[in-house]
Amino acid sequence: MADQSNESAARRNSQDHVVIFDTTLRDGEQSPGASMTLSEKLQVAEVLDQMGVNIIEAGFPIASNGDFEAVHEISKLMKNAVVCGLSRAQFKDIDRAGEALAPAHRSRIHTFISTSPLHMKYKLQMEPGAVLEAVTASVERARRYTDDVEWSAEDATRTDHDFLCRCVEAAIKAGATTINIPDTVGYTVPEEYHDLFKMLIEKVPGGEDVTFSTHCHNDLGLAVANSLAGVRAGARQIECTINGMGERAGNAALEEVVMGMDTRQDVLPYWTDVDPVFITKASRLVSAVSGFPVQYNKAIVGQNAFAHESGIHQDGMLKNNQTYEIMTPESVGLRESSLVMGKHSGRHAFKEKLKDLGYELGDNAFQEAFQRFKDLADKKKQVFDEDLIALVDDEVSSVNDLIKLTSLTVYAGTGGPQKATVTLEVNGKDETREASGDGPVDATFNAIRAIVPHEARLPLYQVMAVTEGTDAQAEVMVRLEHDGLTATGRSADTDTMVASARAYISALNGLIARREKASDISLQAI
Ligand code: KIV
Ligand code: ZN
Repeated sequence: MADQSNESAARRNSQDHVVIFDTTLRDGEQSPGASMTLSEKLQVAEVLDQMGVNIIEAGFPIASNGDFEAVHEISKLMKNAVVCGLSRAQFKDIDRAGEALAPAHRSRIHTFISTSPLHMKYKLQMEPGAVLEAVTASVERARRYTDDVEWSAEDATRTDHDFLCRCVEAAIKAGATTINIPDTVGYTVPEEYHDLFKMLIEKVPGGEDVTFSTHCHNDLGLAVANSLAGVRAGARQIECTINGMGERAGNAALEEVVMGMDTRQDVLPYWTDVDPVFITKASRLVSAVSGFPVQYNKAIVGQNAFAHESGIHQDGMLKNNQTYEIMTPESVGLRESSLVMGKHSGRHAFKEKLKDLGYELGDNAFQEAFQRFKDLADKKKQVFDEDLIALVDDEVSSVNDLIKLTSLTVYAGTGGPQKATVTLEVNGKDETREASGDGPVDATFNAIRAIVPHEARLPLYQVMAVTEGTDAQAEVMVRLEHDGLTATGRSADTDTMVASARAYISALNGLIARREKASDISLQAI
């Protein structure tokens, strides 16, 4: 492995550079049930910027005020990455994207229109000639706001080749600098996608002056293979998402395309600006804020991606880890604990450990986190990095909460009915209620609802074990929805009921905050 990377460093030149365009906050957020709050989007954007992603597609500004705000705020914040906003081929979309991106030091407008016969006839109900005119008009409009304009042919892989060439030529003539060829429905296969890029790059006048881009969906599980095939044919931008999030089966996973090129320099001699060491952090953050768990055997970021169970494999690993690992866990930011945290650890070690994990807390937040760490260490033999991340994230997000859990007692078991007694601090005052329910979780949520009456729906309740063993922290995710607003709450505790109550309360606090922001109303109105 070391030989390969030295060789690749020597070979690095600008022709082999692949731009990484992350669309977690746009296409990724289009995954059903995956909406993120503004502050969660800002957190994700900061990690993407930090890890070296070149372009961050931050949203679709015309789609909602929330998307507009996300693009606008991320534009103010980004230090390195270009911030991109999506728009259809309509002037009002493009103008809204231009407005949202105004504060960015580097901005891109990404405008798209469908070009396949199926989409033109049924979705757009437009003749090909009108689509062609819209390509020119939309790109020209976008150029009023920025000289970095990307044009996409939606459903390109099911588009007639001659027509696709004419559209691409029109987009280039109108001023597009990046041409994206999406496999919108995940239909293509690597050889076919490769040949499509070759054909476009060779045939379209002006093709040599623009960057061609891949955008692959994973309906047949080929999104990463197709993206890399596009690069081999000359594409130099890959559109992808953290954990492969996205519409239906998702998009090409950023971590997979980056590590694919990084690991197989012998056959994929391309390079990106992404520092893979941030991959694990980004994956965990996106999973946490979106409420989408990462499948255990997911490449690069799954819990089992670097785990070895069989005796033969373990024996091989002990002799030489290259026997069963083609990349090291450290290379993607999975580190063995250098400090083992337990009940004897003091403030200094705790602070150092947090620093190591990327957290710097203010004095009050640190004191509270330390106290919770001590409480956890009393209950658990070993406190893992994952426990600490869960514990600190919970603490960081709970500082401004209106509603806090004071105590919870649950009566559960086969005897029934299950009951819960909950005391909440609401606006500084303690209130207690008892409620029964269909199981202890239902009883707990009913008791919370009795103290803070509301009509929010519960579209998601999910429990995961953060670490191993029966003393593992359970991480609970709760999503609440009311009147078109959603909020996700997350909490971890060795007691699943406590984690459930805290996650529910956190979602409720989020919903109140969003609702107050949207319509300036107070707690009682929810
Ligand atoms: O999949 C797709 O075609 C898209 C476009 C909007 C680029 O996401
Ligand atoms: Zn897409």
